[in-house]
Amino acid sequence: MKIAVMGQGYVGLPLAMAAVEAGHDVVGFEPDQHRWQQLNWGTSYVEDVPSATLRAALESGRYEVARLEDWLNDFDVAVITVPTPLKDRQPDLSYVRAAAKTVAAHLKPGATVILESTTHPGTTRDVLVPILQDATGWTAGEDFYIAFSPERIDPGNTAWKFTNTPKIVSGLTPKCLEQAEHFYASITQNIVSASSLEEAELAKVFENTYRHVNVALVNELGRLAHVLGVDVWRTLNLADSKPFGFTKFLPGPGVGGHCLPVDPVYLTHHVRTQYGEAFRLVELAQDINEGQPAYVVRRLQDTLNTRMHRGVHGARILALGVAYKAGTGDSRESPAAQVVGQLEAKGALVDVMDPHVYAPSVFRGPTPPKPYGEYDAVVLLTAHDEFDLTEIAEQAAYVLDTRGVMPVAPHIERL
Ligand SMILES: NC(=O)c1ccc[n+]([C@@H]2O[C@H](COP(=O)([O-])OP(=O)(O)OC[C@H]3O[C@@H](n4cnc5c(N)ncnc54)[C@H](O)[C@@H]3O)[C@@H](O)[C@H]2O)c1
Repeated sequence: MKIAVMGQGYVGLPLAMAAVEAGHDVVGFEPDQHRWQQLNWGTSYVEDVPSATLRAALESGRYEVARLEDWLNDFDVAVITVPTPLKDRQPDLSYVRAAAKTVAAHLKPGATVILESTTHPGTTRDVLVPILQDATGWTAGEDFYIAFSPERIDPGNTAWKFTNTPKIVSGLTPKCLEQAEHFYASITQNIVSASSLEEAELAKVFENTYRHVNVALVNELGRLAHVLGVDVWRTLNLADSKPFGFTKFLPGPGVGGHCLPVDPVYLTHHVRTQYGEAFRLVELAQDINEGQPAYVVRRLQDTLNTRMHRGVHGARILALGVAYKAGTGDSRESPAAQVVGQLEAKGALVDVMDPHVYAPSVFRGPTPPKPYGEYDAVVLLTAHDEFDLTEIAEQAAYVLDTRGVMPVAPHIERL
């Protein structure tokens, strides 16, 4: 089959590689010039796709990276994996619409168009289908096929990857579902079929909402435990000894990445604006999680006052990790970046070290720019494997550990 993958990001690139591996001819459509160029040079910017895999795909002759639409002609399946961010704190479907228009201009009868981007229920039917039908004059489900299959990729997860993570697949009609199942059966091991597009869309957005709400619950528990003088991490371990009815979530500096801070808003905004309904628990969770970076800053501020008898202004602070989670270089919506920003806004002199993140202000080396002991405080924000926790514990004057991974000691506080 000839496959067009719209967007070569964290979702689209692994999908394109899996399709090449399965023997399909793949065009990865990527409008971002920098990304397009890197891919053509055989340099992967997605951790889960080694550059060697990308280069092998290019050399196979079955993978091409395109910025020009002409390359999209003749596809059998187009998969849309474009961003669904927030704009002014509201869902922004402009990328989905733009990609749909591009796909529509090259659609041939009998082709299948699949949306993978995370979005609110109704998007595939009410946004994607009309764009394709209006541009072609054809009927979805008869002249071409429509499906929604949410992506569950977990960057940095070495156990659950694109091919072995169960894949939810849904179609506009039974024939649409069949076409999409046929495609995914060639690239993934386990398909879970949904009976409607909306069920699949809601399932995806709920998966992330569930995590978001549970993370908020333990973040608030952590704040209360601190007031009570109880170690929340040990408390959670105790609760986790119950073999049924409890799933452990961990506190942290907040939630980040493209999913948790964003996806629940698609759901809450949609039900509020379209149906006048509130998803109250989710809105409360958003408040709690969004306040977590400021809570970390407050904790640091308290420590600087009480232990070091100094203010945040002028304090030398080392922030370890700016990616939103361990093992990834993705710092989108990162709470760690917010902690750093808020500390700097208060006049702190912050050095940031992250071996995964490429940015001019971030040190990537194995050691910080100054020895650990020369900082007033070290704050561990992302628990990358590369950080030598023993060395940090031995040398730092004070550590605030927001991930609960450091050994317990008088100069080490956990959130
Ligand atoms: N990153 C994750 O871990 C993850 C996991 C599950 C689901 N998702 C969802 O998948 C979708 C994509 O996320 P991502 O992390 O891959 O984003 P990304 O920003 O890494 O990649 C999207 C790519 O689409 C390109 N693009 C923008 N407009 C386009 C257009 N009109 N046509 C073609 N390409 C276009 C961008 O240049 C970008 O490279 C989002 O809806 C996201 O919520 C992401």
